[in-house]
Amino acid sequence: MFQPGLLKDKVVLITGGGTGLGRAMGERFLELGARLAICGRRAEVLEQAAAEMSEIGEVFWHPCDVRDPEAVRQLMDATMGHFGRIDVLVNNAAGNFISPTERLSHRAFDAVMGIVLHGTVYCTLELGKRWIAAGQKGTMLNIVTTYAWTGSAYVVPSAVSKAGVLALTRSLAVEWGRYGIRQVAIAPGPFPTEGAWSRLAPTPELSNHMVERIPLGRVGEKEELANLAAYLISDYAAYINGEVVTIDGGEWLQGAGEFSDLRRLTPEMWDQIAQLTRRGK
Ligand code: HXC
Ligand code: NAP
Repeated sequence: MFQPGLLKDKVVLITGGGTGLGRAMGERFLELGARLAICGRRAEVLEQAAAEMSEIGEVFWHPCDVRDPEAVRQLMDATMGHFGRIDVLVNNAAGNFISPTERLSHRAFDAVMGIVLHGTVYCTLELGKRWIAAGQKGTMLNIVTTYAWTGSAYVVPSAVSKAGVLALTRSLAVEWGRYGIRQVAIAPGPFPTEGAWSRLAPTPELSNHMVERIPLGRVGEKEELANLAAYLISDYAAYINGEVVTIDGGEWLQGAGEFSDLRRLTPEMWDQIAQLTRRGK
């Protein structure tokens, strides 16, 4: 399905591209011919990831805390200085952990909202202004989650932030469409990464519970998300603007459906229930 030159010569900047899903997307983009820039707070993580990924294609790395607008400005300067341009921005950097909300300080809220909401806004604004001034077209891909629509208990700083990013995606799809700037988003369900699992499913019980909720009976594989991202940033998706694609094995719909829990009934139980439900005929 994917031709080797699908993303040929596109310069893609991925925030948080040194680990997890960001790294998986980066590797796929490189395989498809892109040139890659990655950022994150930890230089040593970026350096090692870039060294390993360079076996596939050209990787530029630059440490940046996306919560700092000046650092974001320097990131864009450095990346454009290196490649001469940026064609695609993937707002992937995030922070998250499970906790009852009443246990959180305002600093805990700030920590997550600073990365997810403000960080995404700062990167979007800095690059969007540059694209518009230069008359350059581009694509912004935002990684949200399925609870960006619904909200979620126990990850409230993340939920309010991802909801904001969803609103940003849809708002700018309309406002910046006239400049040829596309906005797209991916809403993943559970994908086991070290960063996410250590903060969201730190025990076997919590981890197993994640899987039990998914109709397809398994968690996502990073390559599956990376392929979706590759399509969305490619020219084949040139008319998709403002759309959010869910990739969660059907998880959020089963959570929403009134009778989804009946999945646990056995065929024998259904036989008995059929007799009861037909009686009213
Ligand atoms: C309660 C916590 C906490 C926790 C931190 N805090 N962790 N409170 N429970 N587990 C509080 C601290 O006590 C402090 O408040 C404040 O938050 C800031 O903490 P710091 O450690 O100083 O923050 P910082 O170093 O900036 O780190 C940010 C972080 C951290 C978000 C807290 O986890 C991080 O760096 N995460 C990046 C990677 C990540 O989270 N990846 C997972 C993304 S997965 P006080 O008041 O004590 O000063 C994802 C998937 C969602 O988003 C969907 C899954 C299906
Ligand atoms: P991850 O490996 O922890 O990725 C988060 C990345 O963000 C890290 O590389 C981290 O690097 C970077 N980052 C954090 N704070 C930053 C900051 N202030 N400035 C710059 N970079 C920062 O987790 P992941 O699972 O791959 O998550 C990737 C994306 O997918 C996130 O948007 C997440 O919300 C989303 N998502 C994941 C899942 C899942 O199940 N895994 C589900 C739904 C959505 P540093 O720590 O070095 O800064």
